[in-house]
Amino acid sequence: MRICCICGARPNFMKIAAVVEAFRDHPELEPTIVHTGQHYDRRMSKAIFDDLGLPRPDVNLEVGSANHAVQTAEIMRRFEPVVEELRPDLVLVVGDVNSTVACSLVATKLGVAVAHVEAGLRSFDRSMPEEINRIVTDALAHLLFVSEESGMTNLRREGVPEENLFFVGNVMIDTLLRHRDRADGSRVLEELGLAPRGYAVLTLHRPSNVDDAETFRRLAAAFSEIGRELPIVFPVHPRTRARLEAFDVLRDAEASGYVRPVDPLAYLDFLKLMAEAAVVLTDSGGIQEETTILQVPCLTLRENTERPATVEAGLNVVVGTDPRAILSAFRSACDLERAAEPPAGWDGRAAKRIAALLAQLGTAGLARLQGVRQGG
Ligand code: UD1
Repeated sequence: MRICCICGARPNFMKIAAVVEAFRDHPELEPTIVHTGQHYDRRMSKAIFDDLGLPRPDVNLEVGSANHAVQTAEIMRRFEPVVEELRPDLVLVVGDVNSTVACSLVATKLGVAVAHVEAGLRSFDRSMPEEINRIVTDALAHLLFVSEESGMTNLRREGVPEENLFFVGNVMIDTLLRHRDRADGSRVLEELGLAPRGYAVLTLHRPSNVDDAETFRRLAAAFSEIGRELPIVFPVHPRTRARLEAFDVLRDAEASGYVRPVDPLAYLDFLKLMAEAAVVLTDSGGIQEETTILQVPCLTLRENTERPATVEAGLNVVVGTDPRAILSAFRSACDLERAAEPPAGWDGRAAKRIAALLAQLGTAGLARLQGVRQGG
């Protein structure tokens, strides 16, 4: 079975790494790694590949940054000839980024089976570009590999046939568990002069939080307040870096040492930074999952989450973007009991389950699943 594995943006790499690794146990599964080039800075791409020991991509589409329509269209334009040349039996996409939806569209139109890893997550907020990407990808995919219980419920409600649904667990957690010991050896705390539990970690990159000056300023006021009580380390995403400069926010907090912006970190350093933090503040999806497993309280700076299993597990609190709510949640978060029960299937074996399923299905099984979704 020839499998084209798609990755494009930073959070995709940890997921693809687990899948490609699991394919090694099944010689009949032949992966080709296609990098769309959606993320291209060394710190956003190559540094993560290196940390994960991921082989270099077989194909790099080098699309780079652009607005949504242009970026999605450019990925499609460049991916179509790759599918025509490689003639894969399966295109495997992960997550919810523009690369995910673009490659799913190309493959389905060329009659190639599509597998979506991390299917079924829903924020029920269509103002998020990721929600659109998730809905479209799941409407097209033939194999929907689901990471948490809510995904099964959502896909059933959307009418996806039972045969196409596979509850496998969380591949991002496979990668976390695999690299946890190596991450423990990271010297990032010493390099940044931090003591375990003596700091908070912040990440922020959602357009809804950083693209509007007023919202970003309001959030920054909350971070400055928190920073007086506990210094905040802030690895800054390139999108956010541009807005920090354009809107001139956080300058005072940075000068007084309350908030410390640093460049994006590679995978192992970031894992260590999270694992030793007193609390993590974030608008990322994957970080909500990672903190649940690392047993670190997480404040999600959004109005909703597509990952309710992290809230049910007890360590993720969806706080929104109101500064008062963030401050009060911060004060109680540090006291949260660090005893979250991991959600079902977040056990380090999700990718192995995917690989075993694919090996068992074979190309005849893929054709059958394509047939099941044929009528819509
Ligand atoms: C993308 C995903 C988002 C994911 C995030 C993880 C979509 C719609 N969004 O958002 O779901 O959570 O990745 O990081 O696919 N840039 C660089 N260097 C890079 C990459 C980006 O400087 O290597 C800058 C560019 O100015 C670019 C901006 O960051 O315009 C945004 O990049 P883009 O890939 O469009 O979206 P993200 O915000 O990274």
